[in-house]
Amino acid sequence: MATLKINENEKLSHIAPEIYGHFSEHLGRCIYEGLYVGENSDIPNENGMRKDVVEALRELKVPVLRWPGGCFADEYHWKDGIGPKATRKKMINTNWGGVMEDNSFGTHEFFELCRQIGCKTYINGNVGSGSVREMSEWIEYMTFPGVSPMADERAKNGHPGPWKVDFFGVGNENWGCGGNMTPEYYGNLYRRYQTFVRHYDKAAPIKKVCCGANVDDAFWTEGVLKTCFAQPQPDFAHGFMDFLSLHYYVHPGGWKHKGSATQFDEEMFYTTMAKALYMEDLINLHGSIMDKYDPAKKIGMSVDEWGGWYDVEPGTNPGFLYQQNTVRDALIAGITLNIFNKHSDRVRMACLAQMVNVLQAVVLTEGPEMVLTPTYHVMHMYRHHQDGDLVRSALSGVKTVGAGSAAVPQITESVSVKDGVLTVTLCNLSATDAETVDVELENGPYSTLLESRIVASGDIHDYNTFEEKDKVIEKDWNVTGTDRGVRVELPAASVVEIRLQK
Ligand code: AHR
Repeated sequence: MATLKINENEKLSHIAPEIYGHFSEHLGRCIYEGLYVGENSDIPNENGMRKDVVEALRELKVPVLRWPGGCFADEYHWKDGIGPKATRKKMINTNWGGVMEDNSFGTHEFFELCRQIGCKTYINGNVGSGSVREMSEWIEYMTFPGVSPMADERAKNGHPGPWKVDFFGVGNENWGCGGNMTPEYYGNLYRRYQTFVRHYDKAAPIKKVCCGANVDDAFWTEGVLKTCFAQPQPDFAHGFMDFLSLHYYVHPGGWKHKGSATQFDEEMFYTTMAKALYMEDLINLHGSIMDKYDPAKKIGMSVDEWGGWYDVEPGTNPGFLYQQNTVRDALIAGITLNIFNKHSDRVRMACLAQMVNVLQAVVLTEGPEMVLTPTYHVMHMYRHHQDGDLVRSALSGVKTVGAGSAAVPQITESVSVKDGVLTVTLCNLSATDAETVDVELENGPYSTLLESRIVASGDIHDYNTFEEKDKVIEKDWNVTGTDRGVRVELPAASVVEIRLQK
């Protein structure tokens, strides 16, 4: 048996809701088909957005959505995606399958999607192949409230008032698909481009995201911060950046042969778990460099691409990155979100890649059908952590499972409190063994069990299909009361949430 001790009076950091964010790129069937089907589709839609998918995303309490990429962002020219749809430019999506992009989903459609989902907006600008003027005019188009060439153009296209851009990324992966730059070169471009990301709404300045590292590239983090980190000044409240990003994907078999999404042995399962846990090392690595420049932690880390990335499903377009989602993915999600909660003093935004039909998606679609993945159900349980305060918690008596470089702790956890309700989330990483956890509240009593939920299934390979949509879903779960808290049984490969009230 393992013990989880919770000091619910010791609040450590605030869990920004944006840690539970999502990412939608013009890639495969994420935007087109997945989110947007157009006004004339037979699939029920509101202003072109799929009603079924939007409803599921509203239920998920999506806090923020990142768009239009990804690698696509540094080839995207926003003016191609405004005005009458019939005259919008058609282009080739060179990054993703070489398919035709008709730009029918553009700036107006993105804000409409976010309005329907009820989430904040995170737009990623083009540094790789775009100009400073193009970026500055996009900001003016989206946010300028008065009379100006771009604001007038926006009004002409049907939206007189400005929108709210909450977050703006100045380039994406500029160490790779965003221009293959050196950190110093990007750092200097960042200084220049971000200057023209104007805050037209002084009361709600746009939060700027600087492109951070790939995986463990500390050289990039150091080089970029050395070049463009600036302390906030009295007349320049935000320094040059509000966030530095980090991208990290779990490729169980490595970058070249990632492995199947659904067929894997136990060794590969534990390798996946170990690679998911590696997120914590990366946060510590890049966080320690950020600490040197920004000890007060004014800048947030934005892990705005994360998740499991496997070989595409057999028979699907290799450029579309469509993959299934099993119990293993539920665990990647649970483990990673526990890590983000634990590091919420620095990690203040994160976007799961990607929202629909691409990589570790929460929703899969096929024509008019929609299925929610195991990852959806985990994110749904964890939504209660959003806007909570992380409290001190520690496990003892945890066994090790897996072997060699894939030996991992059997249990991971995080605990938050919000409005007098304690949310405890636990993952059991064993493919085969259940474990009991005694949850002990040091100060208690949180005696009323509000709910206890579980995402699990008999087999780590289980997943939901369009024929069988409910194989791996969130269900009620039992816990028993003890003197100090509750005792819970975690079945093999499970993610559990317990909510307690005083
Ligand atoms: O999410 C798929 C791709 O992965 C993104 O376009 C890119 O930013 C990353 O390399």
